[in-house]
Amino acid sequence: MSESKVLRRIEQLRKEIEEHNHKYYVQAKPSISDYDFDMLLEELIKLEKEHPEYATDDSPTQRVGGTITKEFKSVKHTYPMLSLGNTYSEDELRDFDERVRKGLDHEYEYVCELKFDGVAIGLTYKEGKLVQAVTRGDGVQGDDVTANVKTIRSIPLTLHGKNYPEDFEIRGEILMPRSSFNKINKEIEKQMIEDGYDEEEIADRLLKNPRNAAAGTIKMQDSKVVGSRGLDCFLYAMYGKNLSFESHLDAMKAASTWGFKISEHTKKCKSIEDVIKYLEHWDKARFDLPYDTDDVVIKVNSFEQQNELGFTAKSPRWAIAYKFKSESVSTILEEITYQVGRTGAITPVANLKAVFLAGSTVRRATLHNADQIEKLDLRIGDTVYVEKGGEVIPKITGVDLKKRNKNSEPVVYVKKCPDCGTKLERKEGEVQHYCPNITGCPTQIKGRIEHFISRRAMNIDSLGEGKIEMLFDNGLIHNPADLYNLKYENIIGLEKVIENEEGGKPKKISLQEKSVQKILKGIEESKEVAFERVLYAMGIRYVGETVAKKLALHFKSLDAISKATVAELVEAEEIGEKIAASIVEFFSIKTNIQFVNELKKAGLNMEIALDRMPSKLSNKFEGMSFVVSGTFTNFSRDEIKMLIEQHGGKNQSGVSAKTSFLLAGEKAGDSKLEKAQKLNVKVISEDDFEKMLKGK
Ligand code: IVH
Repeated sequence: MSESKVLRRIEQLRKEIEEHNHKYYVQAKPSISDYDFDMLLEELIKLEKEHPEYATDDSPTQRVGGTITKEFKSVKHTYPMLSLGNTYSEDELRDFDERVRKGLDHEYEYVCELKFDGVAIGLTYKEGKLVQAVTRGDGVQGDDVTANVKTIRSIPLTLHGKNYPEDFEIRGEILMPRSSFNKINKEIEKQMIEDGYDEEEIADRLLKNPRNAAAGTIKMQDSKVVGSRGLDCFLYAMYGKNLSFESHLDAMKAASTWGFKISEHTKKCKSIEDVIKYLEHWDKARFDLPYDTDDVVIKVNSFEQQNELGFTAKSPRWAIAYKFKSESVSTILEEITYQVGRTGAITPVANLKAVFLAGSTVRRATLHNADQIEKLDLRIGDTVYVEKGGEVIPKITGVDLKKRNKNSEPVVYVKKCPDCGTKLERKEGEVQHYCPNITGCPTQIKGRIEHFISRRAMNIDSLGEGKIEMLFDNGLIHNPADLYNLKYENIIGLEKVIENEEGGKPKKISLQEKSVQKILKGIEESKEVAFERVLYAMGIRYVGETVAKKLALHFKSLDAISKATVAELVEAEEIGEKIAASIVEFFSIKTNIQFVNELKKAGLNMEIALDRMPSKLSNKFEGMSFVVSGTFTNFSRDEIKMLIEQHGGKNQSGVSAKTSFLLAGEKAGDSKLEKAQKLNVKVISEDDFEKMLKGK
């Protein structure tokens, strides 16, 4: 292709891709298949790579992200970002209307819009191109998050049409639709379950609500991650010199023709009665929206009248927010059941009489632990209040004591494991009860084996929940290591009927020649899996994928990890006391040592691969000893330690008179710095270290 043809094709692709983005993300009317869209985008990415001279800031390829922002630049708002006054009742709303009436000498109209629950953003466009996106911050200045905002597909990078102002700001709300929110939480939950966290810890880590999630996402450092989190943006206000619109609605209509996403639920209301009708409608209908709203914003439509009314110190006199009451329903607590996790943690679950709440039917609510039940003084048969609040899983907020049956008794928390009958334990200072029968409780055993074979662990995908249960029921496996003793003749022909919990047809699994071969092959192949994944697969509490990687890199072998003390373990990056204690406990149990030995015997990798071991690269640090403390920009702490060894140096854990250098990163330990000063040990930075590395 000639240069001019390339440029023309690039421009044509950009236009076409942005049109498709607009149709899909703004108008919700896709006109191309995902596959065809990806093909167009791929072609553009390829052309821009081959011709970097034609790359531009507003190309749709920018939406993929990839920019890392370490620190967001603080930017002063051209127009301060104010907040809105609130009303909580019809009476308060009528008071507002009264104030508006008194402030104006003409008839007026309102515009009602949904108040989107996300983070406010100001977008500046110059000559039709998005040049800056700034968060609200303290209202006077906010953070420049332009690179992240560019990944949001519904925000135009280049405006449509021609009649937009040369320089203006448009403000709106970045939000996370419930579908994106649920998807991310499901992923987090699945991973944490696999890593052995209990329900309470998972609840702690999950995104609390779409608003927090949107706020957290927009301040992430890696715009690629932002681009993957499915954010959306509605616009609701325009600012600029000499804007030619007479009313808010006119401005929004124009903005819509330039490609912005304006809510289709924005409505003109001629009187406060109309406003109240709008509120009544959305009080219920808001639960059918794909995103969260708990307020409505009521604005005087005419700009002239807005100016007449003006502002108080904090908010406009021409607008107000109306807050819906958070919905709570009452229902009957029918039963409390208890779930056993793979680490033995017990979680109580409230089984409720089905009730419709905030858009869905609720049958269960989490109770977290025994304390929670006691605090609420729950009794079976109680009429309880259930609320969704900002959280995903409904919770019980109280009991209707008037409806309580006089003969009811407080709930007695289970004393024995609902699965194996062993007496439950609760360690001092912990809220959770545990089934201590680690080696005998079927749910725990099966859970551990399922974790062991999971994709990110040993990845034996020819086995699944049903087959594991079948092998367990037939007495063929008691722990994950038994998988390596399975023989063709023991498993061929095994059968199991699996009941369908939803009441559908039961499923029958039976092991025939082909599936037996597949299972044995999968088990055999798992012997090649890298050490860090074997370590993760073992199911040590709190040793998730990342922790396993860090441990593997730091200690290099299972032998070293199993012998390490808590003090030695916390030396490794990201390993805290809690994780360290859990590892030490794991290796203090005889059956665990046996289990590990069986895995060793089966031939699994128990050391980090040779190519990741430090091999000698030079002698430049010969005779030098280093203490590495803090965090670094270009390397992880373990990478630095590896480099030191690769170049002939030694790592020490504490500063002593023999230390040659204290390599101090950000947040280096104060006591180490003090000691270095006292002993005259030279303190060097990451920069100094890199210079030393590059030296002869
Ligand atoms: S109008 C002068 N309209 O609410 C203030 N705000 O409490 C003009 N918000 O920071 C704001 N949806 O983040 C307006 N349809 C809407 C809104 C909305 C959400 C947020 C916005 C603002 C806050 C004000």
